[in-house]
Amino acid sequence: MATRSISFFRFLLLFLTLSVRSNGQGVGINYGQIANNLPSPARVAVLLRSLNITRVKLYDADPNVLFSFSNSQVDFMIGLGNEFLQNMSTDPTKAQSWIQQRLQPHISKTRITSIVVGNEIFKTNDHVLISSLLPAMKAVYSALVNLGLEKQVTVTSAHSLDILQTSYPPSSGSFKEEFIPYLRPLLDFHSQIKSPFLINAYPFFAYKDSPKEIPLEYALFQPNQGMVDSNTNLHYDNMLFAQVDALYSAIKTLGHTDVEVRISETGWPSKGEENEIGASPENAALYNGNLLRLVQARKGTPAKPSVPIDVYVFALFNENLKPGPISERNYGLFYPDGKPVYNVGLQGYLPDIIYSSSATTIKILNVWRAVMSLAVAGMILDMGVKMRMR
Ligand SMILES: *[C@@H]1O[C@H](CO)[C@@H](O)[C@H](O)[C@H]1NC(C)=O
Ligand SMILES: *[C@@H]1O[C@H](CO)[C@@H](O)[C@H](O)[C@H]1NC(C)=O
Repeated sequence: MATRSISFFRFLLLFLTLSVRSNGQGVGINYGQIANNLPSPARVAVLLRSLNITRVKLYDADPNVLFSFSNSQVDFMIGLGNEFLQNMSTDPTKAQSWIQQRLQPHISKTRITSIVVGNEIFKTNDHVLISSLLPAMKAVYSALVNLGLEKQVTVTSAHSLDILQTSYPPSSGSFKEEFIPYLRPLLDFHSQIKSPFLINAYPFFAYKDSPKEIPLEYALFQPNQGMVDSNTNLHYDNMLFAQVDALYSAIKTLGHTDVEVRISETGWPSKGEENEIGASPENAALYNGNLLRLVQARKGTPAKPSVPIDVYVFALFNENLKPGPISERNYGLFYPDGKPVYNVGLQGYLPDIIYSSSATTIKILNVWRAVMSLAVAGMILDMGVKMRMR
């Protein structure tokens, strides 16, 4: 009797997980392409569909990807590269032609919901570039207004957590002094156009720099005693939430409580250099698996409990041409052949081939959908059997 009720409970949990994933807005994923061995975007479209992932962030506006996701249910954030910012800030018509060439041909078929203007601009320490960011964002926004697209497509930018001077305790979060003259008007603009502030946040970086001081469990969302912010009495049991709340505090010091923070990148490498402590498939599986569960449960941070965290995991694939330490090439949930790097409970399906005729593609999709339902049913049965055997 006891075993039966456990197995029923597990069944119910599985059922809930699946249905939350399909109803909520779910986790997003970064589709980075710094590699020479990735599957075609058409095959990736099938993979993402099998994973029920409907939010994708690109680092550019790759027409092949946008075309391959025509008539899909996927929402795209597209990237406008740092190299364009200076020209757009001095000549706003360049922003308009970028949108006309890169976005407009796709927007009737592919859901493009956001343009991310520049990536981690403050990290470049290039003050010409940094001062181009806001004018470029304004040029992009004005162009969207001219084209009647500003309601459909939001304008934002993604920043590294390095813009913070202080991040602990979260209530004391503040920006680096030298960036404040740029960040103040930037936040005013976000507030004015009601667009979110994006942050790339990696507890892994903090952990690998201070593995003796930071409990691994705290970085990996594993059970741990956590810490209390003595100014607010809020309890933090994971570092990512503390980082997000530190950013909210920093934003507040510049007068804004009306700008939402979203996580444009976070992840954990499955492999690293000798000195990159913590990089392993086990830790990556815990980090991303636990994070997925928090997203599915629509958890908010302690300071913003009613705002579910909005997350784009980094990344879909291991990218073999990324420069830097070994970890940089090992953030993917999947190998380029579609096999999971580790198990986070996402079983994907990467088809071998996609025929170009869309009718055939739809047939293939239907076949694999049937296969997937059987696989899920099989998992449920299998789980029940295993529980009873214990
Ligand atoms: C994906 O979502 C559909 C409903 O939209 C659901 O039937 C299916 O079980 C989900 N699959 C996975 C792997 O979550
Ligand atoms: C910026 O403008 C200059 C001068 O027109 C041009 O040579 C350069 O290619 C432009 N840069 C980009 C990234 O479009």
